[in-house]
Amino acid sequence: MPSHDTRNTLSITDNRTGRQYEVDVLDGDVIRAMDLRQIRVNDGDFGMMAYDPGFTNTAFTTSRITDVKGGKGILEYRGYPIEQLAEHSTFLEVCYLILNGELPTQAELDEFVHQVTYHTYVHENVTTILQGFRYNAHSMGMMISTVAALSTFYPEAKQIDDPDVRRAQIVRLLAKMPTLAAYTYRHHKGLPYVYPENNLSYTANFLNMLFRIGGREYQPPPALVRALDILFILHADHEQNCSTTAMRVIGSSRPDPYCAMAGAMAALYGPLHGGANEAVLRMLVEIGTTDNIPAFMESVRRGERRLMGFGHRVYKAYDPRATIIKKAADEVFEVTGRNPLLDIALELEKIALQEEYFVKRNLYPNVDFYSGLIYQALGFPVELFPVLFAIPRTVGWLAQWEEMVVDREQKIARPRQVFKGHPRRDYTPMEERG
Ligand code: CMC
Repeated sequence: MPSHDTRNTLSITDNRTGRQYEVDVLDGDVIRAMDLRQIRVNDGDFGMMAYDPGFTNTAFTTSRITDVKGGKGILEYRGYPIEQLAEHSTFLEVCYLILNGELPTQAELDEFVHQVTYHTYVHENVTTILQGFRYNAHSMGMMISTVAALSTFYPEAKQIDDPDVRRAQIVRLLAKMPTLAAYTYRHHKGLPYVYPENNLSYTANFLNMLFRIGGREYQPPPALVRALDILFILHADHEQNCSTTAMRVIGSSRPDPYCAMAGAMAALYGPLHGGANEAVLRMLVEIGTTDNIPAFMESVRRGERRLMGFGHRVYKAYDPRATIIKKAADEVFEVTGRNPLLDIALELEKIALQEEYFVKRNLYPNVDFYSGLIYQALGFPVELFPVLFAIPRTVGWLAQWEEMVVDREQKIARPRQVFKGHPRRDYTPMEERG
């Protein structure tokens, strides 16, 4: 006889009162947080809540887009393993998949690519906004501000319950992000902006807008265009990470997607999230030679530093994206020559995979550990690295935003707090204060 019964419920005994409660267990070992509210000592009490700083164990939404099985190092978009998509697909096909749930037919893909290609131009007034920034403004600050400003160019974007309006903004944002990113780069360099070329692919057009000089079209080796496409596929979505959660939280008060995405980009910018690729490169440059690695690792062990590009909230195994990037890096270096910082990165990884400090904490390389080395080899300046994360993540943010907008279970995001401040007291007149 099994010692348990067949009900999908959880029994809770409140030892403070001796009362028993039974709450439903939903699919995936989940209980509804609101079911805890009935647990109270006195009738007038607010009821029990869960305390979860950093949402480490809280499911904020259901989703059908991306599945990360962190313990096994698995990442799937709409059920398709990331390894297969990176090998066989293109970034825009993956965008279609993420947005629509299925791989497109050839006709569907052609139409989608056409739409994205023909929305790459930005209003000339946007370039005026960009010109107002200082010559050394960080690209992410420029991008965040300009994406928010796009909201004012498309006032109809507020009609978020209209599926056609939603899709029009999604296409616009996917199309315009590379243009904005390239313009921020040209701004730093003091170079004239290069308009999009509609005969080029998404990534080739981006590289052309960045690196073209004079009348000649920039023609990067196809292997580099493909490497960038793969990097974009790997960054397209990653379920409920910090910036996607920001997108959903901001979106839950129902502003237009430009404003919500500016917030998501701001969340991405931090060094613990999408700013990590920039931080990794700066760390490798600071270490400088393999001789300096032992001292650096000692400071990590002492808790004074973090090994940037290592560790992940969800992956407790090797990040599958890091494996693919490592392979792509080899292919890029065959064309561009080896990045000398690679030796430092490989040595750091070797040490970290053996050392107790990292093994005990399940710290493995994440997507950001090797991506910066490829970006550098492709000629991107370090300030552009987080932008190279933001461009492909646009599709993830927007797919998750749209999923949230149509999800009838979603409400405005408004968590609770455990108040630890001063209890009620009366205002003290100035002359009576100590
Ligand atoms: N170097 C050294 N120690 C680390 C690191 C690291 N990179 N990451 C975590 N730890 C330690 C941390 O000090 C803690 O140790 P202890 O238990 O002794 O206090 C333990 O590991 C658990 O860390 P945590 O900060 O509680 O873990 P978290 O899940 O809150 O943080 C993380 C995840 C990604 C923010 C963190 O691993 C980190 O800061 N990594 C470096 C930044 C980075 O590479 N970010 C990119 C993430 S992947 C791309 C993306 O999606 O953004």
